[in-house]
Amino acid sequence: MKVVVIGTGHVGLVTCATLASLGHEVVGVDSDESKISSLQNGLAPFFEPGLEDLVNEQMKAGRLSFTKEAAQAVPGAEVAFICVGTPARADGEANLIAVEQAARDIARHATGSLVIVEKSTVPAGTANRVRRAILHERSDLASSIHVASNPEFLREGKAVDDSLRPDRILVGAESDFAREKMRQLYEPLVDQDFPFIETDIQTAELAKHACNAFLALKISYVNALARMCERSGADVKAVATVMGSDARIGPQFLQAGLGYGGYCFPKDILAFERLATRLGYSFPLLQEVARINGEAVDATLDKIRDALWNLEDKTVALLGLAFKPDTDDVRLSPALALARRLLDEGAHVVGFDPEAQANAKSEIPELEVAPDAYECAQGAHCLVVCTDWDEFRDLDLNRIRESMNYPVVVDGRNLFDPESMRANGFTYYPTGRPAAV
Ligand code: UDX
Repeated sequence: MKVVVIGTGHVGLVTCATLASLGHEVVGVDSDESKISSLQNGLAPFFEPGLEDLVNEQMKAGRLSFTKEAAQAVPGAEVAFICVGTPARADGEANLIAVEQAARDIARHATGSLVIVEKSTVPAGTANRVRRAILHERSDLASSIHVASNPEFLREGKAVDDSLRPDRILVGAESDFAREKMRQLYEPLVDQDFPFIETDIQTAELAKHACNAFLALKISYVNALARMCERSGADVKAVATVMGSDARIGPQFLQAGLGYGGYCFPKDILAFERLATRLGYSFPLLQEVARINGEAVDATLDKIRDALWNLEDKTVALLGLAFKPDTDDVRLSPALALARRLLDEGAHVVGFDPEAQANAKSEIPELEVAPDAYECAQGAHCLVVCTDWDEFRDLDLNRIRESMNYPVVVDGRNLFDPESMRANGFTYYPTGRPAAV
């Protein structure tokens, strides 16, 4: 099928490459000229394992191309995806200006039957606004342009795999035509028995927010338990193991630490809470999820102060700057929230991250970045694990300890084993587990 994707960011570019790999003819559109020119040269504008290779493979196969102009891409398309950003406004509402512009652009250049698909995470009820924008642009095509919701469930760092081996494909559609087109589009995956769930549009839009809010809730729940464990001497990792062994709870997303960041959970929690308020339902649980998440950074800062006393004349090294491993994305990264707090208190902060250095530096210019973990720890009074990159698990701890001013490690992701840290002579502060001071 002929597919156009508006927006070539973390969702759009993965959608382009994976739909092309299913055999469709895909054109990616982005108003950002630099993104489009780097893509046309086969370079992905961000790090995502396997994505750049897949983009190049599909471009070489002639199934994938990129352009700045929707006018070139939309005519003749059967399905048009909206994959633009929906950032939080100051009041927490999702900013849908890019969604409206994409919908209008697509409608303006439509030449016949077309399904316009919301893939960006949008509050329930957005499809009605999309439909009104389309009618306003092209009342002549009112009966041949259809709207559907197909929320993305991509985790950064695993986005290609999550697309080609999805837990489920969710489609909210308003007409048989739209339902049929979406079944045709995902046929190669349905034929591999990946679950395909069809609902009405409102349900699909709301289910997406429900999923992300629940995942964030699970993380905040275990971080609240970490605060209780720190006050009672219990071990939150062991508590999580006991909880996770109950099939109804499951072991995933019960890792206590610096909390969640990224471009999805923080903004989706806010948007979902605003939707509830607009619908006249009070849902304070969502505010608690956000509050407890912020508390996780405070608790880590308290451990650093406990270890170092005054921070003005101290150097704090941050191991990991991205909001999670296997990405260079630092948007709303807890590591950067901690860095800002430390800098505000006068500490000298050095950071290392295998992929996110450049992005971190442009977010916080006064943050010093080191070329590797050992240089980062050199002369530091405290080393804080902020992102659980696999490569940090194999660091030579003796070499680290020898190079530090104080042998203090605050483990914001419970990456290390307390026993081995104690044996290696560190003063070790895990999260939600007994400290070795
Ligand atoms: C999330 C959802 O998982 C995905 O389904 C949705 O489509 C987009 O948002 P993403 O934000 O890329 O994906 O990453 P995810 O792996 O969910 O982690 C989100 C944050 O939670 C990261 O900062 C991670 O460090 C943190 N996290 C995750 C924890 O603190 N503890 C955990 O147990 C799991």
